[in-house]
Amino acid sequence: MSTGVDTAVLATARTTAATATGHLVEDLVLGARIGAMRAGGYALALRGDRVARLLHRPWRLDPYPVYAQLRAAQVASGPVRSGTGLTAVATHASVEAVLRDRRLGVRLSDGRSRLGQGDGPSLMEPVDLSLLTVDPPDHTRLRRLAQPAFAPRRLAHYREVAEQVTTELLDAAAARRGPFDLVAELASPLPIRVISALLDVPDVDAERFARWGLALGSSLDGVRSPSHVRELTRATDGMRALFGELLEQRRAHPGEDVISTLAGAVDGGTATADEVLALAQLLLVAGFETTTNLIGNAVQAMHRTPGQWSALAADPSLAPAAVEETLRYDSPVQLTARFAHEDVEIGDLRLRRDSGVLVLMASANRDPAVHPDPDRFDLHREQAAPHLAFSGGAHYCLGAPLARLEGEVALRLLAERMPRLRPAGAPVPRVATVLRGPLQLPVTA
Ligand code: HEM
Repeated sequence: MSTGVDTAVLATARTTAATATGHLVEDLVLGARIGAMRAGGYALALRGDRVARLLHRPWRLDPYPVYAQLRAAQVASGPVRSGTGLTAVATHASVEAVLRDRRLGVRLSDGRSRLGQGDGPSLMEPVDLSLLTVDPPDHTRLRRLAQPAFAPRRLAHYREVAEQVTTELLDAAAARRGPFDLVAELASPLPIRVISALLDVPDVDAERFARWGLALGSSLDGVRSPSHVRELTRATDGMRALFGELLEQRRAHPGEDVISTLAGAVDGGTATADEVLALAQLLLVAGFETTTNLIGNAVQAMHRTPGQWSALAADPSLAPAAVEETLRYDSPVQLTARFAHEDVEIGDLRLRRDSGVLVLMASANRDPAVHPDPDRFDLHREQAAPHLAFSGGAHYCLGAPLARLEGEVALRLLAERMPRLRPAGAPVPRVATVLRGPLQLPVTA
């Protein structure tokens, strides 16, 4: 999901950092390069480059007006080509077509990492995001390994976990008898506890998981500074150690969890130890902040739109509709990127082999051509076309049923238990491009 902006600089930066962590001179050089890259992007943004604006303040705090401009420009004269080197697709039709087109992938045409050198992610990307960074046939093989974790029987078990955890968390929040932060008290701990169940990791690791998940989620926008690179390295080292240990344990005593399946795959020769460690890591990263944002964005949107929270409180069975409308209206994952494996023409988009396209799912979800009155949050909306918040094609979100389940349980129980829930202060937004959602959301019951 990384945007791939100025990838050569990022690649050099990461290599430099990995080989000389803690070294002052290298840190200064790295800091200066990142600074230069950001300043270059900001200068483009100031000059009116709308794609660059998505990566910088103040525009990225509210990207929806920028998306509307990008859609209008695309309808008038084709997808916008940016000084960042990326072309952006913003309409529903083009986003869907690009995601489904097998002539595009997440790597370059010869299988190299999109960061420009080598074929492994270790030095090139601070975090190996497994499925998200590989194309078929590796992608197909690895995706098959993770699929059993989302089988209907497993989902029924996660529902029980989600209901029990949400009840406990809401009990604790209610006991405070005053304002509380909905993110810290519910939206963040719930997905961590559910993923702990998915991986069958004891609860005792939940806090460490949360810390790692936050750090790794922040990698989606690329590296910010030398200390950010070190933070990511600490998180990946910690996760590799934990998952390495768990794989050994499950090899000796297999269970029904996904780590046991992965251990079996290594033994059976269908995957390497590195591949399964990265896959376990992806499950934590992909399932954590995304779901936190879904819950936070839902409550925020309903509080900001008159009549919407009270409608849910009056009829909590609207929770699934609230989840779908939130995914459309304020998508927790805003965008992704793809690379052409040959010269392609897809509708109004023309791409040369190995050039990149920024795929704006959150813009597609506000396209008036398919969603009437798209800037209005409406629990009773008839879905004219499916939203694209879970992406599409080969990388369609593997955890979509789990995300929907968690969102539905959280919103339903919240509406039942705290029907008078209202804002208790200004939310603190996450400053990011790929992920969108409040970092803090003060509320009172
Ligand atoms: C509201 C919550 C969620 C949203 C909005 C979301 C969104 C996405 C998106 C947009 C992608 C594809 C990115 C691309 O095309 O480049 C993706 C992939 C993925 N998601 Fe989710 N996700 C959510 C929750 C989850 C959960 C709970 C899990 C599992 C624990 C999960 C696991 C995955 C995995 C494994 C992939 C990689 C699929 C592949 O590359 O084949 N996601 N997600």
